[in-house]
Amino acid sequence: MKNIGQGVVTVGIFAILAIIVLGLFDDSDTAGLAVGKKRDIPLQAALMPVLVNVAMNAPAGATSVTAPPLATQPDFFSPKIKRSEAHWQGMEALPLTTELKKKLNYPMSIEGVLIDEVSLQSALAGILAGDILVSINNRPVVNLDDMYRQSRKVQKNKSVMLMVYRHGQWMRFQLSAVPGENLGFAQVETAPMVLPGDIRPHPYRGPCTDCHAIGVTGHLVPDPDGIVLPPPAIKVGVGRPHQDRGPCVACHRIIP
Ligand code: HEC
Ligand code: HEC
Repeated sequence: MKNIGQGVVTVGIFAILAIIVLGLFDDSDTAGLAVGKKRDIPLQAALMPVLVNVAMNAPAGATSVTAPPLATQPDFFSPKIKRSEAHWQGMEALPLTTELKKKLNYPMSIEGVLIDEVSLQSALAGILAGDILVSINNRPVVNLDDMYRQSRKVQKNKSVMLMVYRHGQWMRFQLSAVPGENLGFAQVETAPMVLPGDIRPHPYRGPCTDCHAIGVTGHLVPDPDGIVLPPPAIKVGVGRPHQDRGPCVACHRIIP
């Protein structure tokens, strides 16, 4: 019983410290409506190298007693994070995983990247959403890293030959750059950053950190109205320029 009492006291001290720290750095401009809590970027940035290091060296299953309060938890980026998307000349490409092959009824033996959206030059070339890109100028493309590498080899070209798999057939298309421009190379990105407590909306795909950075600074989260700006502080008695969104104090800090 004594131990539990001490624990409660310790947690209490932590909470008070957290409130003091946040209060010190509090600045209404950084109060995020989106995440519903105050953020302190400079403090996070200062703590990040230390804390990321601690997190990565912690033995599996270890329970941390010195975990910082959630508000100062730094974003976590794995150095081995996988690419989840590539964009090139209007093509959006995804890794052709077993999960996707099953969902789309593609043969398990096929290898390439799945083109899931098409616009610009690739649409003009005849590529369709659902095509599997298997080679660029006859050099095989098995994953997004290949797509990135092979597109770099032709970045100065005006046109290139793409091979795709569509409905059981292998088809070739000539992809041409906008007149006067080069093809350039694919831009890649990972899956979006997710909150530490997020529930996955997809089947289990492995450790979350293989694909996601974990944290609060990765993207703006709009509320149902599509509001993405952190609301500014407003003066007492000021009228609202927007529709009724509820009591002013819910979102604004009111200043005299
Ligand atoms: C192999 C890669 C991979 C792994 C592992 C993975 N995810 Fe994802 N996750 C994705 C991709 C890609 C998306 C984008 C939508 C999609 O493909 O379903 C996504 C989407 C999400 C989203 C929606 C994000 C948004 O802003 O739209 C959440 C939340 C999420 N994942 C949580 C998790 C959690 C929690 C775990 C661990 C249990 C996890 N994911 C593991 C690849 C992964
Ligand atoms: C659900 C959140 C929410 C509520 C509740 C809310 N606002 Fe706002 N308000 C915002 C956001 C976000 C903005 C930033 C611009 C936008 O999205 O319209 C804003 C902008 C403003 C601005 C413009 C400030 C500037 O400097 O540009 C004023 C003034 C304002 N609100 C007054 C009010 C008043 C008065 C009330 C209460 C009657 C109120 N708001 C209730 C979210 C809210």
